[in-house]
Amino acid sequence: MIQAIIKPEVEFTGKELRGAPVQTLVRKMKNLEGVFVDQNAWKLSNPEQVLYTVESYCPVAGGTEGGLFFGITHINSGDLSGEFFMTKGHIHEKPNRGEYYWGIRGDGLLVLKPMEGDPWVEKVFPGSLHYIPGYTAHRLINTGKEILDVGACWPADAGHEYGQILKDGFGIRVFQGSEGPRVRFE
Ligand code: F6R
Ligand code: ZN
Repeated sequence: MIQAIIKPEVEFTGKELRGAPVQTLVRKMKNLEGVFVDQNAWKLSNPEQVLYTVESYCPVAGGTEGGLFFGITHINSGDLSGEFFMTKGHIHEKPNRGEYYWGIRGDGLLVLKPMEGDPWVEKVFPGSLHYIPGYTAHRLINTGKEILDVGACWPADAGHEYGQILKDGFGIRVFQGSEGPRVRFE
C-alpha cells in the first residue's frame, strides 16, 4: 500500500526545532574573538559562557543549488563592557544570495551592511520580518532582558564568510544606554 501522508521529520514548535536531523551549533565567548570593541574585557571574560545557539535543519547537502536551509538563532541577554551580546555576523560566501529573518521572541536589532554603501539597522520583535538582500552582511543583537529568538531561511548554496566583515566592521555598534539601546556609528 502506498503511504500518501507522512509525518515531517522536523517540527517547528514556534520557538524551537525538534527532530532527529536538527543540528545545534553553540557559540561561546571564546568563539567571538575580535567581535566586541573591548578586547581586553573579552580576554578577561569567561571563555565558556554561551552567547548564542543556532538550531538548523539542512535537508540537502551544503552547496546544493535551489535547496533551502532553515534555522532558529537563540541569543542570550547580556553585554560585554556595555556592548550587547550579538552574533559574529557574516556575508554569504556566494554574496548574491539573500535570506529571510523573522522575530519570534524578545527584542533586538538587525544590523545590515551592504558591500558598497552605508549600514542600516532594523528593529527585531515578535512578528518582525526582515529581507536581507544579497551582497549584504548581517548581524543580530539582543537588546532586551530576555532571550532573543529569530528564525531564518537561506539558500543551501549561500555559505558563510566571516573574515572580511570581522576585519572591516559593520560601521555600527550597539551599547546599553541609560534610556535603552544606544547606537554608535563608527
Ligand atoms: C544563516 C544565518 C543565520 C546565522 C546565525 C548565527 O545564513 O544568517 O542562521 O548563521 O544567526 O550568526 P553567525 O553565523 O553570524 O554566527
Ligand atoms: Zn546569513
